[in-house]
Amino acid sequence: MPSITPATVQIDYTKYFSKESHGRIRSQLKELRPYHSVPDMISLGGGLPHPSTWPVNGMTLSVPFAGKSVFVPGYNGRSEDALLPLEPYTAPLKTDSLSPDLAEELQYGSTYGPRHLVNWCKEHIQRIHSPRYADWEVLSTAGNTDGMDGILRSLFDKGEYLLVEEFAYPGLLSPATSMGIRCLGVPMDTEGVNPLALDEIMSTWNEVERGGPRPKMIALVPTCSNPCGVTINEQRKIELYAICRKWDLLIAEDDPYCFLQIRPADKFIEPTFLSMDTDGRVIRIDSFSKIVAPGSRMGWITGPRVLVEKIMQSRESSTNCPSGFSVSAITAILRAWGGHEGFEQKYIPHIASIYTERCLAMVSYLKAHVSPKLIDYPTPSGGMFLWVRLKVETHPDVATKTPDEISKELFHKCIEHKVLIVPGHFFKAPQSVVSTREEDAKKVFVRISFSLPPLDRMEEAARRFGKALAEAWGVEL
Ligand SMILES: Cc1ncc(COP(=O)(O)O)c(C=O)c1O
Repeated sequence: MPSITPATVQIDYTKYFSKESHGRIRSQLKELRPYHSVPDMISLGGGLPHPSTWPVNGMTLSVPFAGKSVFVPGYNGRSEDALLPLEPYTAPLKTDSLSPDLAEELQYGSTYGPRHLVNWCKEHIQRIHSPRYADWEVLSTAGNTDGMDGILRSLFDKGEYLLVEEFAYPGLLSPATSMGIRCLGVPMDTEGVNPLALDEIMSTWNEVERGGPRPKMIALVPTCSNPCGVTINEQRKIELYAICRKWDLLIAEDDPYCFLQIRPADKFIEPTFLSMDTDGRVIRIDSFSKIVAPGSRMGWITGPRVLVEKIMQSRESSTNCPSGFSVSAITAILRAWGGHEGFEQKYIPHIASIYTERCLAMVSYLKAHVSPKLIDYPTPSGGMFLWVRLKVETHPDVATKTPDEISKELFHKCIEHKVLIVPGHFFKAPQSVVSTREEDAKKVFVRISFSLPPLDRMEEAARRFGKALAEAWGVEL
């Protein structure tokens, strides 16, 4: 088994930059920023609006705590989960580092994000991931979609290859492909991307046949992945990291479901790629979308300073700096949770337990209502998705119909039975190896999302799915 050697590999990051990145011309005004904080400096330099003109001088947020129901205006859930089960919180701890500062938050500011939020993110990264090298940096983003956009623009030129999971998040495949980046799927097994398959792709790479140089990055969703609902375990991560080291591959660790995992008994979370990164080859992408709300449009990336600075420059000319209203709301929520201690000891267990309950309930309903002759029951890891393999090899028309045709027929049967699932081929990345029909038949999946349906409708959903499958296969229930 490969292990991580403590010796650090020196990386020349400039070889990863895209032409856009190399050629980016920055506004000279940005260079004046540091002078604003020189003591006794009277600035006649910037074009900043006066804070006394903000038409707000405060914001009131309602952050639900013990005993209060979660009433979300506009959400008209009539079922019991309109009221989420809230664990009683002890009194929030005091934290000074996140004190409200509307003057800074609502002002044009650093693209990295306001100091107090960036400091919170840095402390969080240190507490949870403890990077093994010193020169790492954090950049605020408008969520992981924005973070990934910054990475792709800063590091990729048209025609270059990006390695992705065999079944990948369409929110990565579509923008990357639109930018002219060629995504290539690395075969997966039940534990995630297969390290041997990754090594095979890299070692047999033929520039002429592929029409481009070896890939320089692999994008992975390591926890409760979308669509496969799989969490890559520590040993598999060590093996993948070793292969990435061997081929000088960067790793984009897109981890929005990190804190929704079914919590391991012996550790806070599964160790992340960032936590084992000795070289500075991991760019970790975190989001508040799944732990606060997607509409916050807030997140952050963490990685080697040189790369993060380049990505920051790409955001300088897009978002410029994070939305001050979102920053104010997020920092107020983090404060109300009681800083890091409240976040880690109270909030994370609370939100993880809500999704864990849904996840385990959905698996038990599938076991109760879908015949094991038709599907493999999925192994749950939390998050929002179950990835269910259809036993296409037992379908009566397997000899005459393609796996995709069988999958499409099932999709329409499900619609007839009024249950919506997503066929696995929606997520299929361009294949790196040619597969046989028999191999394809063993990899026909559907994605089932258990995050949103009312709790009291989930069993009915599984029953309808079971009926649709039985009809499509022409068997008795
Ligand atoms: C794997 C993955 N990455 C990124 C995102 C988008 O996250 P954000 O809302 O932070 O842009 C999602 C959301 O569904 C996702 O599943």
